[in-house]
Amino acid sequence: MIDLTQKTALVTGAGSLANGMGNGKATALRLAEAGAAICALDRDLKAAEETCRLIQDAGGTAIAVEADVTDEAQIKSAVQHCIEAFGKIDILQNNVGILRTGGAQDTTVEDWNLLAEVNLKAVFLPTKSLLPHFVENGGGVITNVSSIAGRQYLGAPYIAYNTTKGAIVSYTRNLAAEMAPHGIRANAILPGFVDTPMARDSIIQNAENPEQIDWDELDRRRAGRIPLGRVGTPWDIADTALYLASDLASYVTGTEIIVDGGVSCRV
Ligand SMILES: NC(=O)c1ccc[n+]([C@@H]2O[C@H](COP(=O)([O-])OP(=O)(O)OC[C@H]3O[C@@H](n4cnc5c(N)ncnc54)[C@H](O)[C@@H]3O)[C@@H](O)[C@H]2O)c1
Repeated sequence: MIDLTQKTALVTGAGSLANGMGNGKATALRLAEAGAAICALDRDLKAAEETCRLIQDAGGTAIAVEADVTDEAQIKSAVQHCIEAFGKIDILQNNVGILRTGGAQDTTVEDWNLLAEVNLKAVFLPTKSLLPHFVENGGGVITNVSSIAGRQYLGAPYIAYNTTKGAIVSYTRNLAAEMAPHGIRANAILPGFVDTPMARDSIIQNAENPEQIDWDELDRRRAGRIPLGRVGTPWDIADTALYLASDLASYVTGTEIIVDGGVSCRV
């Protein structure tokens, strides 16, 4: 049983589109179940408040913080607010990431810049803002959400997204090596296909006739491509985040955990 009762966790992107269940929201709920106090950060305050409501209804402690991960001033003041509210932060889950389709020829400069701006600052700025606090406290845990798409082409052109997700792995390794002497661990989670509102939104945006999408049939087809025979859920990602945040992973840093039902091991 993992016990995080003395811990505080800052989870970015802890709300979820359309009140569904995303990776950040599920992670906030899992860490709270283990006893951690949660700072649920999202640019959508209502979505973060909904996550906090679920945590509080289950007897946990959480505050919602509105901030955009691309805005250094907002992130700095959000981190300060969380430290003042709970006295300290022990765990940072950098979960924000956005998706745009496009290959090497048709990706626009606007989309390329947008994904670099959001997906890379999503790991860079909260980490940069929290590191002085972690150093002062003698340690901390950082988990960055990448994707298996950062390692390999998955059959559809998402070149800007995939490039940023690959860069997050590189960033995480550098961060881990640099900060290990301060007792700070940093790792990346590489999800495969996870059923979240953002993933569904992307399918809808790319469909010729969105209203005709047969979700059951789509799920069956996607599950057929996955060795374990099912699409991932946000809880698969949350359980991995819980492990990495805990002392069970006290000797684990600078590495990646693939959570994809076996997709990556099939040629
Ligand atoms: N869903 C998948 O199949 C999948 C696969 C691999 C990796 N991932 C990664 O998992 C992470 C979470 O994705 P998800 O599908 O669970 O999304 P989600 O549905 O949980 O939505 C993410 C949340 O991030 C918030 N957000 C977006 N931009 C923000 C910003 N600039 N500042 C602050 N908050 C912001 C949104 O408001 C939303 O609440 C992303 O990094 C994504 O790339 C997802």
